[in-house]
Amino acid sequence: MSSSATTHSLTGKVVAVTGAARGIGLATAVEAHRRGATVVLGDIHAPEVQAAAASLGARAHAFALDVSDPESFGAFLAGAAKAGPLDVLVNNAGIMPIGAFLEGSTDRYRRAVEINVLGCIYGTHAALPAMLARRAGHIINVASTAGKAPVPGGMTYCATKAAVVAFTETARVEYTGSGIAFTCVLPHFTNTDLIAGTTSTKGIPIVQPADVATAIVDAIERPRPDVYVPKRIGTILATQPLLGRTVRDSVNRRLGAYSTFLDFDAQQRQGYDDRISRS
Ligand SMILES: NC(=O)c1ccc[n+]([C@@H]2O[C@H](COP(=O)([O-])OP(=O)(O)OC[C@H]3O[C@@H](n4cnc5c(N)ncnc54)[C@H](O)[C@@H]3O)[C@@H](O)[C@H]2O)c1
Repeated sequence: MSSSATTHSLTGKVVAVTGAARGIGLATAVEAHRRGATVVLGDIHAPEVQAAAASLGARAHAFALDVSDPESFGAFLAGAAKAGPLDVLVNNAGIMPIGAFLEGSTDRYRRAVEINVLGCIYGTHAALPAMLARRAGHIINVASTAGKAPVPGGMTYCATKAAVVAFTETARVEYTGSGIAFTCVLPHFTNTDLIAGTTSTKGIPIVQPADVATAIVDAIERPRPDVYVPKRIGTILATQPLLGRTVRDSVNRRLGAYSTFLDFDAQQRQGYDDRISRS
């Protein structure tokens, strides 16, 4: 999977997805499965991920996985290998604690770094050796547009996603010519529990998990370094730094991008917060 010009059919491929019990991860597994892949779903919430895989039927497997634990990741990939050599790993698991920085706990921030950042690092470290031996494979890391622009109320989340952007881009360069493709996925607001209680930026529609999934699976078929969803957010984020900080801050403030993670409905977010306290 080294050339971006090459098209790779999903038929017969083994695709592992982390954080696949729901949301973008589940939608990605469903789409890869629909296009003919054998899918291996991992999630910290074992009963939910088992049920998700069972609903797909044949060519779908599920394992309990804590991406922040290298041993757990190793066991997950060993389980996946029973379905055949791993072609694609989608490091998707993530949590988003938001709110005024000092109101959040350092425990929750540590967990966000462990899951969002170390999850990608551990997954890549565990999956790469076998891929390098075959000179084929594709590692897809799900970052966020929050990794490219400041979102007040999301200091730690933005930092974790910026780390995923840098990690993936550096991996792409370090492993050029190895046969391994690296892709960074940068979705904007996507309709999952993760954004519960928030309001999206004015003028940019909230996308569906299936939209992100389609973009990810398209990138498996035709590898590329970045996948922005929706596509035009990539152009916006590339242009913004050229405006200078004063103009950028004023535009983003007017679009509501600087208040969305500060002024949200905490009651609507309670269910999500309770769930990530168990992640
Ligand atoms: N929804 C959005 O607006 C949005 C936008 C940009 C990026 N993202 C990113 O997309 C990814 C998926 O988010 P989502 O919106 O589908 O969220 P979600 O909460 O619906 O799903 C995340 C999944 O990750 C799992 N998970 C959490 N901790 C885990 C761990 N330690 N080990 C294994 N699995 C774990 C959860 O159980 C859950 O099933 C995340 O990395 C998120 O940061 C989401």
